[in-house]
Parts: sequence; C-alpha cells; structure tokens
Amino acid sequence: MQGLKAELLRGFWYMAMPGADVRPGKLSHVMVMGEPLVIGRAKDNSVFALRDICPHRAIPLHYGKFDGETIECCYHGWRFNQQGACVAIPSLREGQRADLSKITTPAFPCRERQGLIWVYFARDGEAPSGAEAEPPAMPIFADDVAPQLHCMLPFSCSTDHAAFGLMDPTHAAYVHTSWWFKRNARKLRPKEKQFEPAELGWKMVRHQIPPQNLAYKILGRNVSTEISYRLPGLRIEEVRGDRHQVVGLTAITPVTDEQTAVHQIFWLSPKWVAPFKPLMRHLMRVFLDQDRVVVQRQREGLMTSPKVMLINDADTQARWWMRVKDEWEAAARDKRPFVNPLKPMTLRWMS
Ligand code: FES
Ligand SMILES: [Fe+2]
Repeated sequence: MQGLKAELLRGFWYMAMPGADVRPGKLSHVMVMGEPLVIGRAKDNSVFALRDICPHRAIPLHYGKFDGETIECCYHGWRFNQQGACVAIPSLREGQRADLSKITTPAFPCRERQGLIWVYFARDGEAPSGAEAEPPAMPIFADDVAPQLHCMLPFSCSTDHAAFGLMDPTHAAYVHTSWWFKRNARKLRPKEKQFEPAELGWKMVRHQIPPQNLAYKILGRNVSTEISYRLPGLRIEEVRGDRHQVVGLTAITPVTDEQTAVHQIFWLSPKWVAPFKPLMRHLMRVFLDQDRVVVQRQREGLMTSPKVMLINDADTQARWWMRVKDEWEAAARDKRPFVNPLKPMTLRWMS
C-alpha cells in the first residue's frame, strides 16, 4: 500500500510556479517530477521551460544570463535558445566544427494561464492533447486574471499522502486547531455530503454554506460551494455568493516520487482585499504548515514500511484517488480512453 514513494503520473500539466515569480530577463529554477527545470520569460512575454542542465558539463542553466532570447551558460558561455537548441559555442575558432544541431537540452511544453505556469510531462514525448491539450482552467475568472494569493510549502511526502491529506475530511479537528479556528474542534458533528464523478476525478456536489459562517459573509447571501478533485492532484473549490466569488486551488506538484510541493492559491473577486493580503497569507501559511508537520511526522512511521489502512467513509475519497489513478495508468497501458470508474455516492462521517 501507500509507502514513502508514489508512482508519478505522466500525460498531465503540472503547476510549476506562479507567473509573477518569472520576471522578464530572469531565470527561475524548480524541480518537478524529478526533473530540474529552468523557466524563463521571453521578450514577447511568453514563458518556456528547459531541462536545467547544460549539455556541455552539466551546470544548471539558471545560473547563466538570459537576454530575453537566449540563455548563456555561466561556465563556458554556450548559448541556448528557448527550444533548448545550442546556437553558439564561443570557444570555437575558425575551421573548428561542432554540429550544434546535435547539442540540445530538452524543452517541455510550458504555458501561463490565469497567472500560473504549467509544464506538461509527456509519457513518450507526445504533444499535449485531448482533455489535457491545454492546462486546466479555473472557473469564474478569465484567462488573464492572476491569483491574489499564493503560498507554497514543500512537503516531505509522496503525492499520494499529500493527496490523501487534501481530501481527508476528518483530520481538521486534530490538525487544524488554533485559538482563532476550530477552538472546540473535538466536538465532532455528523456530516453528510453528496459526491459524483467529474472530469478526471470527482466532486462534492454544490451545497449551501450555513449563514452563521462569518468568513463567508463578505461574499453576500446564499453562499454555496462546490469542491472538485482531479488528477494529477488538484483540488478546486468554487465559492459563490450573491455579491462575490472565490476560487481556491490546491495543487500538489511532485518534486520527486517522495517529495511534494503543495501550492495554495486564491482568486478573489472583491477588489478591496489588498490591505488584508499579508494577514491572509500568514493564515494560509499557518494552515498549510499544520499539514506539512503532520506528514513530516507520518514519514517517521512510513520509514518502517508498515501496512496502512483506509476506512469507510472517512477515507473513501483516498480510495477513489487510487482508483482514478490506476484507471489513468491502465487506460494508457491499453491505449484506450480514460473511463471514470466512480459512481455518485453519499458519504457520512463525524468531523
Ligand atoms: S558547462 Fe555550460 S557551457 Fe560549459
Ligand atoms: Fe489539512
């Protein structure tokens, strides 16, 4: 069962970083799917991603210089274009030949959408297609609207355990307790929610949020929420009130098969939230850090390779995650389309 490592899924776009972190003329480094990436923004504002290793003597390219067109390696000045092809070797003298067309560092499909940079990891070098032709789009907000809040913490766990935490309805009473949140959390109450299959995963069907829930009052009246979970590790919450809307995305991006970057991102329609951003960012961080600490502790146990359990209905969604993931792999193996294996269901638990 789920140990320290998870199988990494290919054929998906992964959220690499917020677009705001990639400034023109600068190079950013990030590790995704065990692959070191250098991400840059060209003069025309487009973004690109290359393997962050110089094919000459392996120094990461992000230490080099970028003039908006080509990257100059910091070691011997070889230059690479945004497709990863070597276009110049300064040490060559007249008459000395090198076949530059054979010198490349791999390029990855890379797009910016709604202020996030997504990188595609193919199975066999194929171009993104079908449902994954483009990176996922968040509801409500337009393609050029960047999120107002972003927070990322590195988790010492595989994407499976990060995903389980994401869809775990019963840990909050024990993990997310603060004087300002769930102070009497141990008073568990019965919960019942409807779920149905959705694209590449499932969703908790839209339901009203009780009007006494203060945090949601700013959205107006009749506040309702819908939460969807989909491969390769996205939780999208769409909260609508009669005045405002909020979209929350949690993206779990594999750094390696046992390390995960957990991104928490919000798009908010109220324009007046700017002064509250530092406080909101702080609270997001506190919350996410509680999850980070718990998986860090869990790691101590997982190191002994124990058998672990998933129980109904609290862990049913964790089971669904494994089923949807298995189906994704089976469909690719059998060269057939993905068929969602889930059925509509009501889940009940105490939390
Ligand atoms: S290591 Fe990059 S140019 Fe030599
Ligand atoms: Fe949590």
